[in-house]
Amino acid sequence: MSVPTPEKRIADFEKMAYGMFIHWGMYSQLGMGEWVKAIPGMPDEEYDKLKDTFTGKDFDAEKIVLLAKRSGMKYITLTTRHHDGFSLYDTKELGDYNSLHSPAKRDFIKEFTDACHKHGIAPFLYHTTLDWHNKDFDNDFDAYLEYLRRSVEILCTGYGKIGGFWFDGNWSKRDADWKLDDLYGTIRKYQPEAMIINNTGLSARGETGHPEIDSVTFEQGLPEPINREGMKKYVSGEMCFTLNDHWAYGKNDYNYKTPAELIKTLCKCRKAGANLLLNIGPEGDGGIPVIMEGILSVIGRWIEQTKGVIYEGKPCGISGIWEDFGLKTEDGRVYLFVFDLPIVGNESVTVNNAKVGPRAFTGVKGQVKAVKWLDNGRELPFAQNEEAGLLSFLPTGYQYGANMVVRVAEVQF
Ligand code: GLC
Repeated sequence: MSVPTPEKRIADFEKMAYGMFIHWGMYSQLGMGEWVKAIPGMPDEEYDKLKDTFTGKDFDAEKIVLLAKRSGMKYITLTTRHHDGFSLYDTKELGDYNSLHSPAKRDFIKEFTDACHKHGIAPFLYHTTLDWHNKDFDNDFDAYLEYLRRSVEILCTGYGKIGGFWFDGNWSKRDADWKLDDLYGTIRKYQPEAMIINNTGLSARGETGHPEIDSVTFEQGLPEPINREGMKKYVSGEMCFTLNDHWAYGKNDYNYKTPAELIKTLCKCRKAGANLLLNIGPEGDGGIPVIMEGILSVIGRWIEQTKGVIYEGKPCGISGIWEDFGLKTEDGRVYLFVFDLPIVGNESVTVNNAKVGPRAFTGVKGQVKAVKWLDNGRELPFAQNEEAGLLSFLPTGYQYGANMVVRVAEVQF
C-alpha cells in the first residue's frame, strides 16, 4: 500500500511546525477560563454583562504577531468565536453579539489578520461549532447550521488570505448531521488554500473525519505518528497545548509548564511529524501576561540556536535510546536530537555532576563522515556499523553556563 503525497497547503503547514494558539474573548475578563459560563455556570443575563465592560484596550495585534514571530512561531490561531457565542468580528446581518457592539467597538479579527499579513505570519481562525448563546443550536439545528456557515463565509470574504480554519465543538453532538459539505465547501469556494482542521477533542485524539479535513488534532496529548498507508489523502497532525491548565486566562492558575518541558514537547511533536500549537490566554483587556511572553521567548531562543531544524526536519526512521531521535531534511541533511545531557565540570558548583555516556541510534543509512554539534560546530567521536544502520557517538555534556535541554547534532555523510 502506498502513502499519498501531501497537497501543497498541507506540506506548507507541516513546514510551519510551530504556531501560537490564542484564547481570548469577553470571558477573559473574569480570569476563570473560557468555559466560565458553563463551569461553574452563569445565567445568560449575568454572563452577557461582560459585553458591557469589554474594551480590549490593551489588545495590540501587531505586538502579538511580533511576539509570535520572534518566538519562532509561523502561524497564529485566534478564537474568532468561542462556545459562548460572542464574536470578535463584524457578524453583519447575523446580529450584534460581537465586539463591535461592545465598548471596544473594534473588529479584532480584522486587526489580527492585517497584522499577520503585514508580518508574514499565517492567520488561522478558531471558530466554535457549539454555541451556548444562539438558541437555534438546541431548537432549530438547521437554522443554526446556516448561521454557522454564513459566519464562516463572512470570515472567508472580508479578511484577506486565511491560513486555515480550526473548528471546535462537533464533539458536543456526536451523532448530529453537521452538514460539513456545506461548511467546508464554503471555505473551499472562497479560500481554497486554507487548511481545514476540526478538533476531535480530548477523547478522540488523532481521529480523521470528513474528507476535507487537512490535519488531525491531538488536544493536550503527544501526537502519535500517523500511519498513512492506504489513506486517500495525506493529512498532517497538530498537537495543541496549554501553558498552564487553561486555554483562556486563568488568573489563579499557577501551574505553568517549564520552557524545558515545552521544548521537549515541541521536539516530540516533530519526532511524530506533527506541529505544535502552543496556547496563550491574554487578560481581559487583551494584554499578554509577562510570564507567557517570557516562556515563549525562551523557546524562541532555543529554536534560533538550533538553526530552525524543527521546521525542515521530517521523521526518517532514525531512533535513539530514551527520547532521542533523528530527523531528515528534504535535501538529505540528518539531525540527531539528544535529550537530557548533564552539565559537566566542577563538583563545587554543578549539581549531579554526571559523566556523559555514548548515545546510539538505529536507522542511520549511508556512510557517516562526521557528527558535529549544531550550536558550536564541535566534532564528536563516533562509531558506525553501516550495514546494521547503527551509529553511536560520544556527546559532550554542557559546560557550566549552558543547558539546552535538547541538543542537536548534525550528521555529515
Ligand atoms: C476544548 C475546549 C475549548 C478549547 C479547545 C482547544 O475543546 O472546549 O475550550 O478551546 O479545547 O483545543
